[in-house]
Amino acid sequence: MSEPQTSQEALRESEERFRGAFQYSPVGMGIVALDGRFVRVNPALCRIGGYTADELLSRKFQDVVPAEELDIHREEVRRLLRGEIESYEHEVRYRHKLGHDVWVRFTVSPIRGADGEVVHLLGQAEDISARREAERRLRQAERLEAVGRLAGGIAHEFNNLLAVIGGFARHALEVTSAEPLRRDLSEIVDATNRATDIARQLLAFSRDEASHPSVLDVNDVVRGVEPMLRSLIREDIELVAAVADEPCVVRVDRMQLERVIVNLVVNARDAIRGPGRIDIATRVLAPEEAPKAQPQLPRGSCVALSVSDTGSGIAADARPHLFDPFFTTKEQGEGTGLGLSIVYGIVEQFGGAVDVQSEPGHGATFAVYLPCSAEAPERPGDVQRAGAAPTQPPPPGGVETVLVVEDEEALRSLIELILTEAGYRVLAAANGEEALKLLRSRDPIDLVLTDSIMPRVSGSELVRRLRAIRPEARVIQMTGYRELGAPKDEFLAKPFEPETLLQSIREVLDRPPPGG
Ligand SMILES: Nc1ncnc2c1ncn2[C@@H]1O[C@H](COP(=O)(O)OP(=O)(O)OP(=O)(O)O)[C@@H](O)[C@H]1O
Ligand SMILES: [Mg+2]
Repeated sequence: MSEPQTSQEALRESEERFRGAFQYSPVGMGIVALDGRFVRVNPALCRIGGYTADELLSRKFQDVVPAEELDIHREEVRRLLRGEIESYEHEVRYRHKLGHDVWVRFTVSPIRGADGEVVHLLGQAEDISARREAERRLRQAERLEAVGRLAGGIAHEFNNLLAVIGGFARHALEVTSAEPLRRDLSEIVDATNRATDIARQLLAFSRDEASHPSVLDVNDVVRGVEPMLRSLIREDIELVAAVADEPCVVRVDRMQLERVIVNLVVNARDAIRGPGRIDIATRVLAPEEAPKAQPQLPRGSCVALSVSDTGSGIAADARPHLFDPFFTTKEQGEGTGLGLSIVYGIVEQFGGAVDVQSEPGHGATFAVYLPCSAEAPERPGDVQRAGAAPTQPPPPGGVETVLVVEDEEALRSLIELILTEAGYRVLAAANGEEALKLLRSRDPIDLVLTDSIMPRVSGSELVRRLRAIRPEARVIQMTGYRELGAPKDEFLAKPFEPETLLQSIREVLDRPPPGG
């Protein structure tokens, strides 16, 4: 009968050793009775869940574990008691006193009594929320990238088709005066414009849209879009833009940053029922003020741009999906669910991060963090803004010879049609090889208009070879994608309106010839 004595002593001894380690361990520890009551808890465990020791001691294990995970623990404890396992370890959730869940790595092992029976359980919990969050972000980034690539590919194909549909319809509209036909054609043009907008959104989201980063002051950008934002929101919503006194200098694409602001403000507007208020604010954060929950932000100071609203706030179950493409809580036809994924994509592209704080019923705050740039900002007037003036002279034509290289047959004939009508002489080639043949002929060629993506000989390859054959010819590459390299060449973003095409051609032809 000395056996129980020994294990009791052993238990006491291990208790002794355990005491110090228990109290000061950085790992959360709790001793739990078999009915789940907490018998002893250490400060680290209290910290993880936001409880005081007394609060935990008056609770059961079952009270601090989400109901849907209780079965995992029940099953494992059963196996422990039957002696099938020595201990168990799981990554599980722990319910914080404030109601949210904290991810922990949870290890449970038995504490045996004098007779060898399990009398208590020792639970150890290590807070792994930060790692979980980092993994979640990575998964989200990967998912976005995969969807983005797909969306970009589709949008690229659609851009070409839309240019053809819209182009022919516009042309037909110009040449016919038959009334019912004109109405139908206008409908086609309108629908094509809407579809082109969506394709553009998709390209923005897939990050394949052309991006022209420059060094600028976020405060200028906010001031610049403010009047436009006012026109977007209802009259009973107050818009207050409070920019920092100091410049908030970052390196981003102005149009893309504007899109970020517009998307956030439109979301804020949609979240407000009845009267309300939207606040836009900017601030420079010193390195030590940088948000810790944003590990991907580079070290150093950053600019925080926040958009807060007094709207409905964000439900807890929507929170994890906000930045997912096509996640929307809006009615069919009211939202595509791309706004925030575009925001996310743009901000990531410039090395920044997006964060959201919201309490359901009490509005939401979206904060965009962008790394500060040490360069001097370009003055707003330095960059000519894209976009058409309200009244325009008729699109310019010409009599020069243009070689059109485009593998998409319908688009090629559309361009031929536009150019011929504007007076140009047009040569056409379906691919790079045909184009090179024409370039080697004795035909005069003033300008080559080429698709940038073609099978076998790509646009840029064609341009490289053309420089050797005809150094004097001007070149414009048409592209639906952001192009790398050859920055000195002219690019025309697809899809384009006939006027834009004609204007670019005229502009390039009117410049002094290359190399002279
Ligand atoms: N300020 C906000 N307040 C409350 N909910 C918001 C806010 N911003 C976004 N959300 C929620 O996030 C969802 C996704 O937003 P997102 O901008 O990606 O798509 P959308 O606004 O629904 O559609 P789209 O922007 O493509 O027109 C919204 O449907 C809405 O439920
Ligand atoms: Mg939106």
